Amino acid sequence: MKRIGILTSGGDAPGMNAAIRAVVRTAIYFGMEVYGIERGYAGLIDDVVVPMNMRSVSNIVQTGGTKLLTARCMEMMTREGQQKAVDTLKKHGIEGLVVIGGDGSFRGAKTLSDEFGVPTIGIPATIDNDLEYTDYTLGFDTAVNTCLDIINKLRDTMTSHERICIVEVMGRHCGDIALYSGIASGAEIIVVPEIKFSMSDIVERLNRSRGSGKHSNIIVVAEGAMSADEFAKQLQESTTYSVRPTCIGHVQRGGSPSMADRMLAAQFGNKAVRLLKDGVSNRVVGIHNNKIIDMDIIEAVSMKKTFNHELYETLQMISM
Ligand code: F6P
Repeated sequence: MKRIGILTSGGDAPGMNAAIRAVVRTAIYFGMEVYGIERGYAGLIDDVVVPMNMRSVSNIVQTGGTKLLTARCMEMMTREGQQKAVDTLKKHGIEGLVVIGGDGSFRGAKTLSDEFGVPTIGIPATIDNDLEYTDYTLGFDTAVNTCLDIINKLRDTMTSHERICIVEVMGRHCGDIALYSGIASGAEIIVVPEIKFSMSDIVERLNRSRGSGKHSNIIVVAEGAMSADEFAKQLQESTTYSVRPTCIGHVQRGGSPSMADRMLAAQFGNKAVRLLKDGVSNRVVGIHNNKIIDMDIIEAVSMKKTFNHELYETLQMISM
């Protein structure tokens, strides 16, 4: 394979730039040419393609966001859009494609490989950590660390005022950001889309916590379960303790990637290009049991994300 393309797609995630760098540098190492496609599939459809070299990826390993820009592209779900994307690849002589993104982006890659015969490799990047086949997605660790930094600060003021803080983190369908930031910040309660909650149980738990001498509490709520504002409103109707909501929002999507995410990016990017070089394609890379793995893209996108109930029970036991 002589020429490959690379794009980032869907919600950005810290570590995307480090992954772009790893892909570009590995490809050049193996004598391949690399073309960057801007704005994800939208750029592929609209033919926004730029040649990349060693220096195009200098000084980005430490930066958040994506140098190639990103977009959520509805047109890629249509046959017409998909055909335009394939035409752009053909026009530039791009023989293989690396797609950095989450579930939706992988579905686009699956179509290109499965239905149009374009060799593709997916690199999992989303702060949500909502892909079952990989233990971690790129950006998740940094996002959780950002949440921890904010929750630590909230705890200071909540403690001073003896309040309950409702912290809303991202995750429409997947509660992993809430689960990990809840455990790691010592939150008393987490609320996730995967588990039904009852406000009266939560009030009872808070009362027990206060009864044991605690004066303030942190409740981490995933956006897919309820907004912080609504949760705080409902809780305040059932308790005399003072309640305050905070929504972390898009802050958790930005920032310099953590060591863990930079290491994943380096290994994912390197593996993706090695696969293409060896003639292996239509795969996604990931990490499982601390080993870098690859898997058939169709199999990977068909796996349903499972919630880690053991970690949830751990939080219930140690957070009073
Ligand atoms: O998929 C990543 C994510 O940050 C989700 O956690 C969140 O629900 C969504 O993207 C927000 O999307 P947007 O930035 O398009 O509003």
